Amino acid sequence: MTPTSLATPQVPVTTAVPELSSAAVALAERFGLPFCTTEQAHALDFVLLLGFDGLELVWQHQPHKQKLHPLQLSFTHGKQAWRQQLGGGKQEAVVRAVGVAKGYRPKVLDATAGLGRDGMMLAHAGCTVALLERQPAVYALLRYAVEQAQQDERIGAWVTERVTVLPFGSLLAEGSLRADIVEWAPEAIYLDPMFPERGKTAAVKKDMQMLQQLVGADSDADGLLPAALALASYRVVVKRPASAPYLAGQKPTSQVVTKKHRFDLYIKKAYGSANTTSSSV
Ligand SMILES: C[S@@+](CC[C@H](N)C(=O)[O-])C[C@H]1O[C@@H](n2cnc3c(N)ncnc32)[C@H](O)[C@@H]1O
Repeated sequence: MTPTSLATPQVPVTTAVPELSSAAVALAERFGLPFCTTEQAHALDFVLLLGFDGLELVWQHQPHKQKLHPLQLSFTHGKQAWRQQLGGGKQEAVVRAVGVAKGYRPKVLDATAGLGRDGMMLAHAGCTVALLERQPAVYALLRYAVEQAQQDERIGAWVTERVTVLPFGSLLAEGSLRADIVEWAPEAIYLDPMFPERGKTAAVKKDMQMLQQLVGADSDADGLLPAALALASYRVVVKRPASAPYLAGQKPTSQVVTKKHRFDLYIKKAYGSANTTSSSV
């Protein structure tokens, strides 16, 4: 299979548990995805499997050397739960890059939401966050996990108040900015498109490998920068691997640098100011 993010393969919802059949059909319908029976699912590369433990993305026909476990996304259990409850908060580089350290809590569009880790960090730090994802199966995992988190007694209150999962799709619909997103009026836009070389390092996390297989390289990512700059009122932040070229070849205003990544900041104006500025934060 040659994955590409531009053709978005349809991944159906299925279940191996007869008692969950009607729940799986309802979930598929609510999320705008097809449903299929286990027999129909056999031949497919990817399925979204609903079980008693939740929804998971299963890569069924992996090459011999690959051994990727099903991908289940949760903000209330496992690694991500730890991050949300005890994690760095304001210290996280993504949070500093978006500008929360200045004491402002911007309204952020995470326009390449993926597995929602960065978006949830921003919401945890106090930002109002809209998550936008175009790959329908990734969107399904993300929406399912956010809905679960909204019902959680420890983190449900802030997740409900600050996090919205937008209907799946892109900031750009047929060359124009999507109307519902223009109306949402983000102050900052965060971009973290898939970068091709990520898959070549051994350090790539397993869940990201799975995502990469499904989504491929976001080869149209350069087009997101001018669109984001037109829409964000204050700044656009782009996450890149440390050695990657600038998105769309455009030099940022300033940067937040970590060991593996770089956050390129494109600042239109300082938070709270009415004037456009090109100075650094
Ligand atoms: C590297 S992942 C993002 C990871 C995310 N920052 C996180 O913390 O989990 C990139 C994601 O962006 C999505 N994507 C790429 N281009 C997009 C676009 N134009 N609109 C919406 N989603 C997009 C891809 O489908 C993929 O799921």
